[in-house]
Amino acid sequence: MKFENEINKRRTFAIISHPDAGKTTLTEKFLLFGGAIQTAGAVKSNKIKKHATSDFMEIERQRGISVATSVMSFEYKGVLINLLDTPGHKDFAEDTYRTLTAVDSVVLVIDGVKGVEEQTRKLMEVCRMRDTPVIVFINKMDRDGQNPFDLLDDIEKDLKISLHPLSWPINSGKDFKGVYSLYDKSLLLFQPNQKANESESVKIEDLADPALDNLVGEKDANQLREDAELIDGVYGRFDNEPYLKGQKAPVFFGSAINNFGVKELLDTFIRISPTPQSRDTTERRVDVMQDKFCGFIFKIHANLDPKHRDRIAFLRVCSGKFERNKFYHHVRLNKDVRFSNPYSFLARDKDVIEEAYAGDVIGLFDTGNFKIGDTLTEGENFYFTGIPSFSPEIFKEVINKDPMKTKQLEKGLNQLTDEGVAQLFTQHNGNRKIIGCVGDLQFEVIQYRLLQEYGASVQFNSLPFYKACWLTSENKSKLEEFTRFKTGNTVIDKDGHIVYLAQSDWFLNTEIANNPDIQFHFSSEIHK
Ligand code: G4P
Repeated sequence: MKFENEINKRRTFAIISHPDAGKTTLTEKFLLFGGAIQTAGAVKSNKIKKHATSDFMEIERQRGISVATSVMSFEYKGVLINLLDTPGHKDFAEDTYRTLTAVDSVVLVIDGVKGVEEQTRKLMEVCRMRDTPVIVFINKMDRDGQNPFDLLDDIEKDLKISLHPLSWPINSGKDFKGVYSLYDKSLLLFQPNQKANESESVKIEDLADPALDNLVGEKDANQLREDAELIDGVYGRFDNEPYLKGQKAPVFFGSAINNFGVKELLDTFIRISPTPQSRDTTERRVDVMQDKFCGFIFKIHANLDPKHRDRIAFLRVCSGKFERNKFYHHVRLNKDVRFSNPYSFLARDKDVIEEAYAGDVIGLFDTGNFKIGDTLTEGENFYFTGIPSFSPEIFKEVINKDPMKTKQLEKGLNQLTDEGVAQLFTQHNGNRKIIGCVGDLQFEVIQYRLLQEYGASVQFNSLPFYKACWLTSENKSKLEEFTRFKTGNTVIDKDGHIVYLAQSDWFLNTEIANNPDIQFHFSSEIHK
């Protein structure tokens, strides 16, 4: 356990939310506390604008800039925090899901006015698949919101998680007076637009203390006393274990834009959140404390500049120490590779690093050697499990407009799908190629990049499918029979798995009901 100290001081997490709930604002406040940026607005200017949906080049350009903010590392009170950015844009949801495989915990931001929204549900599903510990931050308390008990109830039911409030708001909107920390037994009074070092809370050990009445008025003080009693009765004492197991999510209330409740969230986060965790592989569980290095690629970002064909592969270090210029074993290619310019990401600057430890995320220059899920080790052969591919939502057939460029097209499609831009399926012995994406935007990106980078010109034909299900069965002949009868709906993914493409819920449910011997999976793990 040579690296215990390094590992224990690290926290690797992501902030996730439905677009507009306040993820970027909260990220920025965290970075301000960590001293990683000096002025507000630095992160926001990199955000993919929600209105820019018609202009994919602009989005790609912004995405390019956002490479710099893909990982933001900063130190806060002696803890080294790696904050992984996730694109808020719906069309890049797959990127977000994969990033969640590289973190040890998440902070989920929910808009206190709107409550649970569509993307919140999907993100939570991914967290549940991996039992990722979640802290919930209810944002925008400066706006008139729902009753907090009702809100928590809704969140619990809708997201199927069990919550535990660690702070409690006193009203919301124009009557918002602040939050009481049930964890620290202190009161934080609301003032709009607080600076990083301005928020000071008042210790109130006993809510019966008349000081509370002086601070918030008798009516609100009594309401808080009543609420606290109810919370005690309903939720009991906070226990960290269920949180770390992903079974219970502590809840904080605040207002990111006003920098209110953010410091309290960050302070509690560094106290209760998990240090880098051990991870499962196809061979065994890799102990995070083992001396030997290993890590996996969870994201690949291409450089859009045609003069630079290189890509950056993001590697999460899972154990040991990564060193610059040392040879590591690339398991899939069965060859040794080394990196002379590995990057770490300190806020907005990329820095070449000499070493990295479990929990760290580093950027490796890649000339086409990596695909998502690839593993580097010090010689052992295994893959990390639990890196899923989710069902695309839009499917289109690839039409090659220039038969002279068939080879280039094949290469382009393979490389782009290795990057995780989209999923590639084939039908009729590989003669028909189908691309599946989460958002329409990706098709434009693919078409553009195939032409610019590979000289291949394509057109897409829309297909009437809405979901892909990966099929497995103990009964091989049943599966073969199914694919024979459903040639129009069955395809093969890049790893050779059989996939069923469904036109509608009705068709899907009918097939599931008619084929009890076949299992329909809604995600596929790259390595099992
Ligand atoms: P996102 O990354 O989750 O998409 O959300 P982002 O932080 O960009 O916030 C979305 C909008 O909500 C922004 O307003 C932001 O200023 C606002 N916001 C964030 N936190 C709070 C809060 O605590 N209270 C209130 N009232 N608003 C908040 P915008 O008008 O879309 O952008 P901007 O013009 O302010 O930059």
